[in-house]
Amino acid sequence: MPEILKAFSPCKIILFGEHAVVYGYPAIAMALDLGTEVILKESDKEGVNIISENYGISWNPNSYEKTPLIFKPFKRVLEIIAEKFPQKAHLLSCIEIKITTKAPPASGLGTSASTAVAFTAVLLNYLGIDFSQNLVNEIAYEAERVSHGNPSGIDNFIATYGGIIKFVRTKQGAHFERLDISENFPLLLVCTGVERRTKEAVEAVAKLRERAPDIVNRIFKMIGEISERAWTMFRENRIDLRVLGDLMNINHGLLSAIGVSSDVIEEVIYLLRENGAIGAKLTGAGIGGCVIGLFRNWEDVESAKRNIEKKFYCLTVKPQNQGVYVKTLM
Ligand code: MEV
Repeated sequence: MPEILKAFSPCKIILFGEHAVVYGYPAIAMALDLGTEVILKESDKEGVNIISENYGISWNPNSYEKTPLIFKPFKRVLEIIAEKFPQKAHLLSCIEIKITTKAPPASGLGTSASTAVAFTAVLLNYLGIDFSQNLVNEIAYEAERVSHGNPSGIDNFIATYGGIIKFVRTKQGAHFERLDISENFPLLLVCTGVERRTKEAVEAVAKLRERAPDIVNRIFKMIGEISERAWTMFRENRIDLRVLGDLMNINHGLLSAIGVSSDVIEEVIYLLRENGAIGAKLTGAGIGGCVIGLFRNWEDVESAKRNIEKKFYCLTVKPQNQGVYVKTLM
């Protein structure tokens, strides 16, 4: 009976600290109950046939055609696995890998990281490698570097470990603390419909920092303090939604100050606030992507959603404590 494996890895939102995290300040990310599913099947076709359901295209690395852009991160994962486990690499043949992401693409929800993490985990499992979450995370980070240039790594950490994490990347390496989080976290996610481009947003912030280093560094420091303040609430399990909302609003203002908001993001922020959000901020790289709103309770989330979805695509999301996993389906 041919083997069928399924891997799943969650998408994420950044609650606090995006952009500042690239410069060594802490950020907080939360895994979501939506993410990427990767199904691996044995097949009679030569090589590794990768099918992207969302884009409706497929690619076989053994063919001689140029690697399409969206498959470059997968190519990197295959190369690393072949380098690390040369005795197993030949087994990566006659398989089909179907990838489906249940999140809007380029929405700043970490779809590239959840895809890289689930793809890496399913391959390691198929090869019979007794892998750790650390190994999956390490390989997926290399795929993220192909997608985004010089990412902090927060997206692949949260996609691997799930829950809620405080993440810091310094020159000495990445550190994180992880907690489980209660499902009762009344959030609404609103998509602006404008694609966010992480690499470009990060580069624009880097240029601004070159022009006004002392000011931008002070903004990053403040963003880092906001993340620390929020993390204390999560760690001590004393979450005051009102204070958390205030911190989100302040963090959003600071992101606006470094130029990663936009007219459509501001429109969504004010729509959320007019509809009862106690906190609203962009999440991820910004410029486009998604905005998150925090509410007092789920009734308020539902009533805001009814109004906002007349104009923007809305999603109610819950935290997901389980990180990446692989299951045998047959
Ligand atoms: C990406 O989800 C968040 C940014 O901080 C970039 C990064 O951390 O690599 C904008």
